[in-house]
Parts: sequence; C-alpha cells; structure tokens
Amino acid sequence: MSGRTSEQILQDALLREVYRVAKIGTWEVSSEDELIWSDETHDLFGVDRSDFGGTIEEFHRIVHPEDVERVRRVADFSDTLNTHFNSEYRIVRPDGALRHMRQTAIVLRDARGNPLGFSGVVQDVSEQVETEAQLRQAQKMEAIGQLSGGVAHDFNNILAAIMSAAELLQMEDDYDPDLVESIINSAKRGGELTNRLLSFARKQPLRKTCVDAVPLIRGMAPMLDRLIGPDITLDLALSDQVWRLEADPAPLQEALLNLVVNARDAIDSAGKITLSCRNASVPGPMGDCRDYVEINVIDTGSGMSEEVRQQARDPFFTTKPVGQGSGLGLSMVDGYVRQSGGQIHIHSGLGKGTRVALLLPRSEHTAPDPAPRRTRANQGNGERVLVIEDNVDLARLIQRQLSSLNYRPTLAANRRDALQAAAQAGGFDIVLSDILLANGERGPAVVEELLALYPDMKTVFMTGFASDDQTTPHAFGEPKVVLSKPFKIEELAKALR
Ligand SMILES: Nc1ncnc2c1ncn2[C@@H]1O[C@H](COP(=O)(O)OP(=O)(O)O)[C@@H](O)[C@H]1O
Ligand SMILES: [Mg+2]
Repeated sequence: MSGRTSEQILQDALLREVYRVAKIGTWEVSSEDELIWSDETHDLFGVDRSDFGGTIEEFHRIVHPEDVERVRRVADFSDTLNTHFNSEYRIVRPDGALRHMRQTAIVLRDARGNPLGFSGVVQDVSEQVETEAQLRQAQKMEAIGQLSGGVAHDFNNILAAIMSAAELLQMEDDYDPDLVESIINSAKRGGELTNRLLSFARKQPLRKTCVDAVPLIRGMAPMLDRLIGPDITLDLALSDQVWRLEADPAPLQEALLNLVVNARDAIDSAGKITLSCRNASVPGPMGDCRDYVEINVIDTGSGMSEEVRQQARDPFFTTKPVGQGSGLGLSMVDGYVRQSGGQIHIHSGLGKGTRVALLLPRSEHTAPDPAPRRTRANQGNGERVLVIEDNVDLARLIQRQLSSLNYRPTLAANRRDALQAAAQAGGFDIVLSDILLANGERGPAVVEELLALYPDMKTVFMTGFASDDQTTPHAFGEPKVVLSKPFKIEELAKALR
C-alpha cells in the first residue's frame, strides 16, 4: 500500500490531464545514462513502452537528422551548467510525422554538486511554430505590399516622363525610329508591371456583390480564347445549377485572367485549358459545412514540381525568364481570394498539368444585388458649383464627389482663381467655399465679392474647425449652410440641396 490519499490520486490524475492537453511530457537521464520517459513523452514521440530500450541513442534516432548534432552538443555542454537549459529541435516520429519540440532540462546534482543526471520536460510546440510562420509570412506580404505600392507610384511618374520625352523625340527631324520605339515599348512594359504592383498593394476594401459565376465566365470566354491562341483549346464545363457567390466581380475577372495566362504559359505548343464551375460544400474547422462555388482553371501544361507548387503563391516567385514573369499573378489571386473569405488550392505535378481551384463563398442573397442607387432627392441637376479650396487633394476629392452627385464642379484655390473662374463661366449656381484659405485669404470675403457680382448664387461653407466663432460666417449677414470637414458624400449632397 502506498498510503496515498484519494486527494493525491485525484491531483495526479488532474496533472496528467494538464500534461496531455498542453502536450508536455517529462523525462529523466540517470547517472547510468538510462533514459526514462513518462507515458506522455512516449505518446509525444510516438514510441510504445515495449519498443523502447531506454537508451539515448534511440532518442537521437528520432531527432531530425539536421538537429541531432545540436541536441548532442547541448547535452554535453549542459553538464557544466548550474541552471536549467532550453533547446528546440524537430523530431521525425516512427509514423513519419514531423513535430517541433521545446525542451527544458535541469542538471541533478548530489550534495557535493556532482552531476547525477538530467531531468526535464518536453513539449510539442508544432502548432505555435506553424502559427508563427504564418504570422511572419503575413507580415512579409504586408511589408512587400507597402514597399511595392510606394515604389510603383513613384516609378510610374518617372516612366511617364520617359514616355513623353521619347514621344517628343519622335517629333524631331533627325531620330532613330527603332531606338525611340524601343524606349517607348520598354516604358510601356514598365508601366504595366508597376500597375500590377499597385494592384497587388491595393488595400481598398472589396465591393462585394452577388455574382453569377457562369455568365461571368461565359462572358470572358471570347476574350480568353483570343488570348490563348489557336493551338490551345478553351473548354467550358459549367454546371447549370451553380449557386450565386459573394465577391467583387472586377478582381475576380482579373484573377481568372491571371490563371488562364499561367495555364497558357505552361502549355508548350498545343493543349487544352478547361474552366469549370460547380457547387462545393466544404467541412469547416468546427465540423460545420460551408457552401462555396468552386471555379477551376485546369491545364494540360507542364505542371509544377512540389517545390515550385509550394512557392508559387509567394510574391515575386517566378520560374519565367526575366521580362516575362513578374511572379505577382498567383500572389494577387491568393490575396484576393482570402480577402473574399474564400480558399485557393493548387493541384499539380510535373508532367501532369495543373488545376487551380478557387472556392468563393456562396451568397446568401437569392437575387443579384440591385445596382446601387442614391436617393434621387439628394442628387444634383447638373448645377454648376464653384469649389474654393486651397488643399489640392481635398479639392480633387470634392470634385469627384460632386461629379458623382450630378453637379458640374469647377475648382479654385484662391480669390484670384475664383473671380476668374466666375467671370469665365458667367457665374455659378452654387459656391462651396473653405473658410480659411492660404495666404491669409478668407472664403467668406471672397464669396461676398462674388455675391456682389452674381447675387443669385447659393453659398455653402466648409470648415475644419467645428465651433470657432471667429470664422463662422454668421458675421457676414444671413446664416449660411456650414459643412464641417471631413464630411461624407451624403452630407455634401444634403448641404447642397
Ligand atoms: N498553370 C501552371 N502550370 C505550371 N506552373 C505554373 C502554373 N501557374 C503558375 N505556375 C508557376 O508558378 C509561378 C508563379 O506564377 P505567377 O505568380 O502567376 O507569376 P508569373 O506567371 O509571373 O511567373 C510561375 O512562374 C510558374 O512557375
Ligand atoms: Mg502569372
């Protein structure tokens, strides 16, 4: 009889359960170099008690060959240490599974300080390692996106300058047409690449609507057919009863185009590309089923080795010669599909062709979304609006908003521009003016000058200062409509009405 109380037995059982859930095992090395594993450690290493002879060599045989040397060295070195020591290594279990282990060990010593052996815990941290790797990948993509977005933007401006210089050259009497043409063509190609970079870095939210994939694909078919040339056949295998899906159709078309171009590039001379579409219910992580529409792009091309397949979605990964591949196609498709709440699967093997499957979530709506409409009550009627705003970016934005609200905007940055624009246009229906302008000019004063010339003009003021008495336009006669910046398009629409 061990004399253990039922409470101790219960605590033991509890501890075991904690170990099991946390995937922690314990182990010990005696002074005779015998290795003793707890039940949990046996489970973690995938080795039955009956198959284990208790030698350190057996343990080393399970450690990943690339990590064995390190594990050995840590153990040798730790003899001399007084504290605990940590190490991480991979194991290949007898069943072939690769796992990441984190181990903490302490040196056991007798009263004189002579080492008696080791004891420690080992934990399976494969999930954490995996999550960290995913996080790192996400951060890498984010950084590349930001970087390429910034570079692409500046680069486009430079390319535009090169283009226009080359075009000016063409007007000279004495120039080499081949040289100039190659400058222009290179600049154009550079422009296409930077535009791909820009759309890769695109952060704007998707405009998801309810999409019928089958007509969308049918609509693209003639264009795709031309793209792949006469030696490659385009096959459509579209089921009739496909659910509607939830996606932004413009990038979806771009994605399909990218996949078809990849398929074309993989086909050496002649071959076939099949676009298929069907419903798919996929088990989710909680055991529930999710409904997707699966769009496949299948080709009879060269296929990919496993190594290429795994990297294919990495930004800038390409196996194509310089000038032909940007390596951004699949990473854009991947980003788009994820952002849409979908999945992408690449099935391929060398010499076996490729199937790329896009799974996009089924839409809950039964009918396609109606075209977005703005309440007609707040729309303009082609009225001419003079916008007096010294911030160029903001002025452009307001200009766009006004156009979309069916007004005709004209921009002016200061008093002189405003008076000149009004004189040219013979007055405006509405003036929308900032209150504080650059160089100490004041919107209300400018508006008063304009009103003296065109008394029928309606006025709306905008201000970045919510309640500054000094700048409220009440001081200039009757109260006017004041918009405080930043404002939404609906607020602008209402103020103008
Ligand atoms: N359908 C396909 N068949 C064979 N290989 C493919 C296919 N699609 C993509 N790949 C491989 O993946 C790489 C990356 O593709 P992608 O991101 O579109 O960039 P790019 O087409 O510019 O090389 C390609 O260079 C190619 O090696
Ligand atoms: Mg590509």
